[in-house]
Amino acid sequence: MGGARRASDTGRHLGRVSVLGLLVSKKILLIIGGGIAAYKSLFLIRVLARRGIATRVILTKGGSEFVTALSAGGLSGDKVYTDLFDLTDEAEMGHIELSRSADLVVVAPATADLLAKAAHGIANDLATTTLQATDKRVLYAPAMNLRMWESAPTQRNVKTLADDGQYFIGPDEGEMACGEYGPGRMAEPEAIAGAIEKLLKGDTTLDGLRGPKPLKGKKALVTAGPTREPIDPVRYLSNHSSGKQGYAIAAALGRLGADVTLVSGPVAIDPPACATTVKVETAQEMLTACEQALPADIFVAVAAVADWRSDGPADVKIKKGKDGIPALKLVENPDILASVSKGKNRPKLVVGFAAETNDVTEHARAKLTKKGCDWIVANDVSGDVMGGDHNSMIVVTEKGEDVFPRLTKADAARRLAEKIAEHFS
Ligand code: CTP
Repeated sequence: MGGARRASDTGRHLGRVSVLGLLVSKKILLIIGGGIAAYKSLFLIRVLARRGIATRVILTKGGSEFVTALSAGGLSGDKVYTDLFDLTDEAEMGHIELSRSADLVVVAPATADLLAKAAHGIANDLATTTLQATDKRVLYAPAMNLRMWESAPTQRNVKTLADDGQYFIGPDEGEMACGEYGPGRMAEPEAIAGAIEKLLKGDTTLDGLRGPKPLKGKKALVTAGPTREPIDPVRYLSNHSSGKQGYAIAAALGRLGADVTLVSGPVAIDPPACATTVKVETAQEMLTACEQALPADIFVAVAAVADWRSDGPADVKIKKGKDGIPALKLVENPDILASVSKGKNRPKLVVGFAAETNDVTEHARAKLTKKGCDWIVANDVSGDVMGGDHNSMIVVTEKGEDVFPRLTKADAARRLAEKIAEHFS
């Protein structure tokens, strides 16, 4: 480490000595596009430096509306490139050399505009010229409004770039700056850094749009959300399930190539684009929809099915009055997981969830046996899991337990989907 220099000394020697005092072994060229997620790319530079990866930055005109060249340069310890026709830059390092000076090119945030230009070979600024001229792999981290992400032109452009051999990480699902919920949020810097490390090692088994779709040809059935059990035409029994975890799992399985049917109770979120969604209200309707969707290779029961329903809901609104407080007689609902798991069309892999508030793994293990499933995903719902955006899962199998750290529901879903894909590989 004797050769470590001050960060500012590294400007002309990207990747040769150190960044932020850390030894550097690889270097990437980061194109920061114009989106609110640009601030996350500044974190990315730091995360990469800590992993021994140096970053040289091209800041697009749009990008400079969100972050400054000064901050990017301060963090990368290098000059930030912005203009194609800057003669000083060209004398120092032309765009062709710039495009080849790194081991990998990363576009984060990759806006709809950058994707469109790259897919069609439009090269009218430094970023797009560099993308055309590079002989290196390109990793895109898209970030945009979910409707823009799901729009036909963007999806066509992504496919074109993927077919050309480019890589993608994200976008993640979640609440977006514009207030909508769905896919469109740029992947987190740690996840992008992980993908960069993988690609730099030549490992292309990325959770991206290109590359192996390990679940292609597999049919998956997922239940999600609560069920609603009517008491009378205006009242019902239900629970706090938001459907977010189940929807994220359906999306994650779809992204890995599975043909997904999502049977969902009433929720307030949009269905994932890559699944066929069947909306139901009651547990009995959910069971019927599941039976109709079988056979499948994979069944993931995420729904918080109401355990009981009213024994004969009233046809008209129950009135307060002379009969006093009505006694609600309940009967047990069908257990959808147990019924699919023990039925004649049993999928090869049956995964249940266990919502517990105490002795989480013990209760989960008991459910594994009782319901005859292959895996049970235990989660402690005593905290902010129900309705929240995070989850800490423990996948309980006959062989043992796989403890996931606390993750966003989208990340937890991705990890579970990858585990499912591994199981089939
Ligand atoms: N489940 C189901 N049908 C039901 C009840 C539960 O398919 N009628 C599924 C859930 O989707 C989940 C698993 O069974 O995958 C466990 O659900 P959970 O609510 O944790 O357990 P219960 O079986 O309801 O048992 P308890 O409420 O006593 O913990």
